[in-house]
Amino acid sequence: MALSKLQLYRDLAAQLAALLANEANRVANAANAAALIYHGLPDVNWAGFYFREGAELVLGPFQGKPACVRIPVGKGVCGAAAARAAAVLVPDVHQFPGHIACDPISRSELVVPLVEAGTVSGVLDLDSPLPARFDEDDRIGCQRLVALFVDHHRQYLDTLPDGTLWQKARC
Ligand code: SME
Repeated sequence: MALSKLQLYRDLAAQLAALLANEANRVANAANAAALIYHGLPDVNWAGFYFREGAELVLGPFQGKPACVRIPVGKGVCGAAAARAAAVLVPDVHQFPGHIACDPISRSELVVPLVEAGTVSGVLDLDSPLPARFDEDDRIGCQRLVALFVDHHRQYLDTLPDGTLWQKARC
C-alpha cells in the first residue's frame, strides 16, 4: 500500500477506535463511523451502512444523499457483497449488472461485508463520483475499519435485548 494511503487508513483506524471506545450502541457507532469515513476519504459522495434483516439489507447510518431503503441480498453491489460474504470493488458502476443507482453521480463503488459469527450482518458501502476511485489498498483499509467495528461490538452481543436489529441480522 502506498505510504500516504497506508497512513490515511492507519489514522482512520485510530480515530474509529477512539470514537467506539466504551460505547455499545451500534447505530450511534455506525453513524460516527460513516461520518469519519465520508469526511476522511477524498472523492467519496456516499458512505454508510446497510444492516441485514433476513433476506434484505436495510439502510443504516450514512453520509450522502438519501438512498434506497431496502436491497434484496443478491441484488446490486451491496447485495452481491452480502451474498458472497466478500468485498466487491466496482471500477465502473455502469458495467455492473443490476447496479442500483441511488445517486446518479456515483461512478465507482466499494462494498465490504460485516461478518459476525460466520454470518453477514450488514455491509459498509462507499461510492465515488470518480471512475476506478477504489483499489485493493482501499479494500484492505476498509476491511480493517469494518473488522474494528465488528470486533468492538462482539463484547456487547450478550447485552442486546431480544428482537433487536442485530439479533435479527444473525437469524
Ligand atoms: N449502489 C448500491 C446501492 C446503494 S447506494 O449506492 C447508497 C448498489 O448497487 O448496491
